[in-house]
Amino acid sequence: MTGRRVDIAIIGGGLIGCSIAWHLTKQGVRPLVLEAEIVGGQASFAGAGMLGAQVEMQEPGPLFDLGVASRAEFPALCEALKEETAIDPEYVAEGMVRVASTPEEAEELRTRGDWQRQAGQRSEWWTPEELREHLGYPMAPCEGALYLPDDHRVEAPRLVKALARAAVLAGAEIRQNEPVVKIDSGARDVRITTPRAVYSAERAVVAAGAWSSLLLGRPEWQNRVFPIKGEAVLLEAGLFPLRKTVFARDIYLVPKADGRLYLGATEQRNTWSKEPSAQGLAQLTERANARVPELKTLAVSEIRVGLRPWSDDGLPYLGPLPDSDRLWIAAGHGRNGILLTPITGRLLAEWLVSGRSSPLLRAFHPSRIVRRSS
Ligand code: GLY
Repeated sequence: MTGRRVDIAIIGGGLIGCSIAWHLTKQGVRPLVLEAEIVGGQASFAGAGMLGAQVEMQEPGPLFDLGVASRAEFPALCEALKEETAIDPEYVAEGMVRVASTPEEAEELRTRGDWQRQAGQRSEWWTPEELREHLGYPMAPCEGALYLPDDHRVEAPRLVKALARAAVLAGAEIRQNEPVVKIDSGARDVRITTPRAVYSAERAVVAAGAWSSLLLGRPEWQNRVFPIKGEAVLLEAGLFPLRKTVFARDIYLVPKADGRLYLGATEQRNTWSKEPSAQGLAQLTERANARVPELKTLAVSEIRVGLRPWSDDGLPYLGPLPDSDRLWIAAGHGRNGILLTPITGRLLAEWLVSGRSSPLLRAFHPSRIVRRSS
């Protein structure tokens, strides 16, 4: 078994791990990324790619602020990645509509639009007729929709591949099929054991999505981050006119740049299974067909399943563990991992290198587990 010293090790080669790695290379660091299987092979590959900084947030607060700030980084990030790697993350600036099915939901969404506008974000209310006109196809009767012109989208599998390739081109090392079996953090280093080697890292960041609590292996971190399974179906959209993402309470429809339509997503707790279930797929197609009857005739092209890394208090954990300045975590992004990829990577890389954390990250500090359990 070989032993090796590294400056910064990142455990997990998904969107978050690869984003931290790439941003570290911009700070002159050459990190080591250890990925148990293949880069982006888990939740990063399954995600719809919605940048729902407004659609996913029900109240103002630090997650809303972080999401809005991260969303703003996508145009420059995607341009840079295209330039550096020739992989296009397919950033499409078409906005999103959040459909209201009942008068109560319409009221709730109008209120959401109001506080988001007061917070400086754009939104408009569309009547059912305006919605029909903008979409170009008929939907089931509804009470109108909140139009969010700045909630755009990307293709998550392309984004993670581009980040990984850009990181490697800039000097990061990514070792795939090398699962971490043990992490020991001491006063002098973090020792990371895999079947191939024992690494001694100055600092290590666990960015292993739903597996992060398990990997930390400490009782106080048990179930802080856990999986919520999501299933999605991609349809071949053929001549069906696709422009804007449509988000409703029970289903969302995300047009893809390759002419497909992504129907997402189920939410299932208490499982590590990544098998698509008959019930989940039926739920998605029935809900989509009920909203847009024309979808019934489209062919199924692909099924995607991922385990979202949920956190026990609904916020990601970002920063050093309370009892160690060597061992860090960046996990628990829940439904917002793709949206939060740029800002998580940039701010964690800056913090790791400069020792100074951004005020935007204050609410996400892992030390909150101590406050909550005391
Ligand atoms: N971001 C949408 C979802 O997790 O389903």
